[in-house]
Amino acid sequence: MNDDLRSKVIPGVVALEEGPGGLDVLVVTGAVADARIFLHGAQLSHWQPRGAEPVIFMSGKSVFEVGKAIRGGVPVCFPWFGPREGLPAHGFVRNVVWELEGVEQGSDGSVRVALATQSSGKTREKWPHDFVARLIYTVGAKLVMEFEVENTTGAAFTFSEALHTYFAVGDARRATVEGLDAAEYRDFPDRTKLLRQQGPVVFTEETDCVYVNTRAACVLTDPVMRRRIVVEKEGSDTTIVWNPWIAKSAAMADFGDDEWPAMVCIETGNAFENSVTLAAGARHKMIARISIGKSG
Ligand code: BG6
Repeated sequence: MNDDLRSKVIPGVVALEEGPGGLDVLVVTGAVADARIFLHGAQLSHWQPRGAEPVIFMSGKSVFEVGKAIRGGVPVCFPWFGPREGLPAHGFVRNVVWELEGVEQGSDGSVRVALATQSSGKTREKWPHDFVARLIYTVGAKLVMEFEVENTTGAAFTFSEALHTYFAVGDARRATVEGLDAAEYRDFPDRTKLLRQQGPVVFTEETDCVYVNTRAACVLTDPVMRRRIVVEKEGSDTTIVWNPWIAKSAAMADFGDDEWPAMVCIETGNAFENSVTLAAGARHKMIARISIGKSG
């Protein structure tokens, strides 16, 4: 650990450790919740409010290597969502090491961790704009994730984004997601058509739906873990719901063939028609607030 990083941690509350693959991980042991956040991708891989089961799913097959995406946790998708010919899927900020801007304790026992990354010659080869991206985690009884993009170019640019959150569930086949009834969505692989959701989302096959024009909170009900996970959001008009199911799981090298029943992604984003156009010098912020409760 270099001295600059050492000066930013809080002994007994936030430690910087060497994680898998030699990647730096911030280990948060707060008064009300624990978390782990990789500097690589600013990717949270664990959040556990005191007395509760872990809320976030991580694949046991993830690779941990600079330049590659970590499988699970909360990958940050920016400046595009989904595949792009000849370029990394979901943008490039999840594949680079971010800077730790600072950590701070709140009076309610929460811990704030601020991370940032910015454009460089390398990013300009992939996306010809200048930006600063900041992610602030507040690790408490709720997990708050604030993702802000600042346009530091002299002209407007358009981007897509997502906080691609993997939630741990007892069995995806028995889980439901409420909050998207009647919302329009773009299915996979044909994202050109708009379909309409009816009732709660249930998982009976590969599910890869981009819900557009929705600011609604989502409730993930997990009867096996007897838990409800609530995802509230601000500054986000798109919600993506994903479970890879059997064939896609088998095709992913960094995901176990039998891991799909243990996760459901609910992603807070802005993509497709909700992509954000940001004027020169302007900032855009998107916030996801995650909380848990008991279900019957
Ligand atoms: C989801 C997309 O957000 O991410 C899926 O909707 C994609 O289409 C999934 O398969 C995982 O993407 P990746 O790049 O992390 O394998």
